[in-house]
Amino acid sequence: MRMFKLVCIGVCALLISGVASAQYLQTTTRFSSQPAQGADSLVVLVPAGVSVQLSDWSQVTTDQVARAISAAEFTGETGQQMLLLAPAGLSVDRLILLGLGEPAELPRHRAETIGASLSVMINDTHAATVAISTGLIADADQAARIAAEVAHGVDLRNYRFDRYKSEPDPRPAQSFYWQVAAESAALESYALLSALAEGVFTARELTNLPGGDGFPAAFAEYARQQLAPLGVEVTILTPEQVLEQGMGSLYGVSQGSQHKAHLLVAHWKGSDDQAIALVGKGNTFDTGGYNLKTDSASILQMQTDKAGGAAVVGAIKALAGQRVAVNVVGVVPLSQNAISGEAILPGDVLTAADGTTIEVASTDAEGRLILADGIWYARHHYNPRAIADIATLTGAKTTALGTAYSAIFTNQPEIRDSLSLAGEITQELVWPLPLDNYSGIINSRIADIRNSGTPGAQAGAIFLQHFAGDTPWVHIDMAGEALADSASGISAAGATGHGVRLLAEWVKLFSDQ
Ligand code: BES
Ligand code: MN
Ligand code: ZN
Repeated sequence: MRMFKLVCIGVCALLISGVASAQYLQTTTRFSSQPAQGADSLVVLVPAGVSVQLSDWSQVTTDQVARAISAAEFTGETGQQMLLLAPAGLSVDRLILLGLGEPAELPRHRAETIGASLSVMINDTHAATVAISTGLIADADQAARIAAEVAHGVDLRNYRFDRYKSEPDPRPAQSFYWQVAAESAALESYALLSALAEGVFTARELTNLPGGDGFPAAFAEYARQQLAPLGVEVTILTPEQVLEQGMGSLYGVSQGSQHKAHLLVAHWKGSDDQAIALVGKGNTFDTGGYNLKTDSASILQMQTDKAGGAAVVGAIKALAGQRVAVNVVGVVPLSQNAISGEAILPGDVLTAADGTTIEVASTDAEGRLILADGIWYARHHYNPRAIADIATLTGAKTTALGTAYSAIFTNQPEIRDSLSLAGEITQELVWPLPLDNYSGIINSRIADIRNSGTPGAQAGAIFLQHFAGDTPWVHIDMAGEALADSASGISAAGATGHGVRLLAEWVKLFSDQ
């Protein structure tokens, strides 16, 4: 009953008004079967090989557009754009044509990218009111889907991290009027995608926070504010509770910091199935500890070392916002890897909650230390049917794969295949690396295991596998994907929110198996 009411607050309000807006955006997006009045810009979505002519265009307009199309060699192929200023016979200042290729074959991620480049084109102008016609797409349901996905791409690109600017650049604030025959289908798709965008924005915001402001308690509190209103059950363990639960490996990483360890648990119980657990690395800053990071460029990025945890929070937010019928629990161990007289020393031995003793061969291999107890917590308290952990874990991963793929490690073919498919759908691509035949690489002379070894990405994975035990498990190493120097595609400059779309999609696919 409560679920039903919440569904109506989230989606029905949207459906009734026909207006949707997101917390992080100042744009408005409307879908209507009626043409928009008073627009200053007209965008037409153009399938390949279709002649560009809307029903209310005069011959003058049609002729001029045809001439411009031929001069620009615009064919409607996917990703093509054409801009025509002051089109004859129309009241708008600009006409923009966007090529779709074959609409039935246009994947979601391509539609999103088309939207992202539309937002770049529009933001480059003084356009305030943008009308978008989908009238050239023959199939109304196809048109509704594509409109929603393109609109979603516009939104993803329009996120800005400007909370520290005294005078921020004005945020994009256009009104978009999408003309679609299947109005409610478009609205419904867009509402779902907007919930996903909200998850991505939350992850970007958390990841972007500087180390000094985004410490463990602040991360947890922000996550609670974002998730609790959606009906997610949020629990935050204090440093004392982390210790009480025996999570000495998690606690150890930030024992030298004024900001001690926390553990965030976010449970979206959208079904009575056995839970799926997402465990994200929430190291809110990585100095390296006494194995100090000495490269100034890389330490300057280490506020993003909480991106795995941010992706988990974002994915839970998206799934809850979409009211998806899955039972999913997000666990985010939170630490700050810093130095003081109380900090762990290289060679120290920590005892994890499951009793494993760990030689800290490097204080800079802190991610696996906090994830070990995060994975234990998920298993011990939720008995999940599967665990996916996600982390900015190793430089070795970036050396192997760059940032085009995240590395995945798993012995479960169903998880590998569903995660690969989720990667294809969202274009947050993953590539499997092997786990077997690395026995011995984390052996310790003095403790049960040590926290580093060679090869580096595998050592991290093997270490985490120890704590996953017999629970079906995958490790996702997303080092490098968290941060973009400049805006590109659907990503704004700064934190990408990488992992939210991948995890949300994977949970849906995997829970159906
Ligand atoms: N957070 C880093 C990994 C990282 C590097 C993320 C670059 C994003 C960009 C991690 O905690 C780390 O320091 N890893 C070490 C492990 C080593 C000391 C075993 C590494 O990869 O060098
Ligand atoms: Mn480190
Ligand atoms: Zn780290």
